[in-house]
Amino acid sequence: MTAMPPRRTLHLVVDAATPDPAAIARAARVLAGGGLVVFPTETVYGLGAHALDAAAVAGIFAAKERPATDPLIVHLAAAADLPRVAAAIPATAATLAAAFWPGPLTLIVPRHPDVPLIVTAGLPNVAVRVPAHPVARALLAAAGVPVAAPSANRFSRPSPTTAAHVLTDLESRVDVVLDGGPADIGVESTIVDCTVTPPLVRRAGGVPIEALRAIVPSMAVADHVTGVEHAQLAPGQLLRHYAPNARMTVYDATPADGVARVGREVRQATARGLRVGVLAPDDALTALAPEIAAAASAGRVTVATLGARDDGAAAARVLFAALRALDAAGVDVIVALGPTRDGLGAAVWDRLRRAAEGRIVPA
Ligand code: TXA
Ligand code: MG
Repeated sequence: MTAMPPRRTLHLVVDAATPDPAAIARAARVLAGGGLVVFPTETVYGLGAHALDAAAVAGIFAAKERPATDPLIVHLAAAADLPRVAAAIPATAATLAAAFWPGPLTLIVPRHPDVPLIVTAGLPNVAVRVPAHPVARALLAAAGVPVAAPSANRFSRPSPTTAAHVLTDLESRVDVVLDGGPADIGVESTIVDCTVTPPLVRRAGGVPIEALRAIVPSMAVADHVTGVEHAQLAPGQLLRHYAPNARMTVYDATPADGVARVGREVRQATARGLRVGVLAPDDALTALAPEIAAAASAGRVTVATLGARDDGAAAARVLFAALRALDAAGVDVIVALGPTRDGLGAAVWDRLRRAAEGRIVPA
């Protein structure tokens, strides 16, 4: 799968709100013709291919080095296109689509036979979403075909929220990168399985669970989303995903306790000669400032903020860029504190847990 012939990657910068129609038309032709086009969505950048063209979709797996067992999300220009990829539309899917599309919500529905099995990794159901980003919408409309698109990162790396992240991972592996600036939301779409009753949240993401429940009160949440399932697992048993190169540990503690524990970690790790990254909300970084200044004078600490502690949306926006920046700084270990868990905080905690491969130290 690694032996993919190199491609010349065309980097097209477009305005995020009103993209140049000529650039969109060019990218759309590449997509419709079976090529690989990276495009911005409101969540993260996606690596797109014509979803009904199995050979084109195979290119996605090769470019990402993604296992064929991991199914892809199909992106549509409009909810009205759903019958092209869905064999049936469950009532909850129609309700949720009306409430949240276009937007950061993916719905799992029965697969239409026109959707090749490579897209769904052999599953009878297909994941579908209608993104809200003007560049994604223009591209999907111009291409006129459903577009399979995972996040545009190498497999297991943090998802890309800028075109620079994409080029780091996929330069010379894709045909076009449409650069529409930084992604707004910063974490992937929320995934709801509409083929089961009650509908089930399979991934926390850009639509908060509270917002889903306001529309569908019976909405259930899979154990792995809340982290319950992984409580029993030793670190390393958790699928490596969204992962920085550095070994990461997250402290699930009260603010004061968290600061004390991270401070201790920073002292101990720097004393052992390790370069340390600290990822935390602003208030914790302020409280840790003396500790960090002492260790940083030796050039061993790099800090990345998650914003205000009670602002999950702010943390979501910067999380993946922060993980990549800490890697770029060459840190050996990352110690992290999370934001509050409501709203987008739930999706941030899910990504932190995976990035840390389950190394969450309980309060
Ligand atoms: O925000 C997003 O959803 C981004 C942008 C590009 O749209 N896409 C994205 O795709 O996050 P990806 O490939 O990184 O995550 C797709 C995940 C799979 O790993 C799997 O968990 C779930 O969606 N999925 C896809 N198809 C499925 C299916 N048929 N049944 C169950 N889960 C599915
Ligand atoms: Mg992904």
